[in-house]
Amino acid sequence: MRKPIIAGNWKMNNDVNETEALMNTLLPLVADAKAEVVFCPTYLGLQKAVEMAKNSNVGIGAQNMHFEKSGAFTGEISGEMLVAVGVTYVIIGHSERRQLFNETDEAVNKKAIKALSLGLIPIVCCGETLEERESGQAEAKVVRQMELGLKNIDDITKVVVAYEPIWAIGTGKTASKEEADEACGWVRATIAKLYGEDAAQKVRIQYGGSVNPGNVKELMAMKNIDGALVGGAAIKASFAEIVKF
Ligand code: 13P
Repeated sequence: MRKPIIAGNWKMNNDVNETEALMNTLLPLVADAKAEVVFCPTYLGLQKAVEMAKNSNVGIGAQNMHFEKSGAFTGEISGEMLVAVGVTYVIIGHSERRQLFNETDEAVNKKAIKALSLGLIPIVCCGETLEERESGQAEAKVVRQMELGLKNIDDITKVVVAYEPIWAIGTGKTASKEEADEACGWVRATIAKLYGEDAAQKVRIQYGGSVNPGNVKELMAMKNIDGALVGGAAIKASFAEIVKF
């Protein structure tokens, strides 16, 4: 039985004071959630968020990390630095990082391996563009991202995958529950091919892309969908309705 996991990706929103205010709003509202709950504020909000989430049911995640420990990587943050402030999850290979910051499948793989070695739970993202979907390339894209991004992983069952079709992100256009489930099935089949069916059955796969309080329930009812990675709807009080789908 896979425990549902609902994560909020706050993206580049909420400065440290706004992070504190949103944590104050959300922590009590999500306290009785049955799902695993994760908030991912900006790097600058992490320390505050970790302090505030202590003794709560909420885990704190970063939105990215570098795979090296330290050194001449101007502007980057290492996994070790995340661990030092008490972060326990990290989003890796979000489509915005891939598209806007040229992140490759190889970098995603290095980051996932490094995160696991530090005890961080990586939320590894994949998903196709509208053009790829319309030209029948969606499955090939997702399979390739997973084959390259998830190779050489010691314990795949600790990894969380987020399938986020790029055309559904921030557009209000959610994938249908059947489309989302089918694509999460492609992810699971790829993991089964790499690590065996038993391990694949233990991996939690989230859907992301315009998830809101009105559509979360039907998505979560699908057999391959074990959670949600939520953007815009994660920085409002109504995120509590999503985690309590
Ligand atoms: P939206 O929920 O705003 O569509 O964003 C999804 C996302 O990118 C989460 O990582």
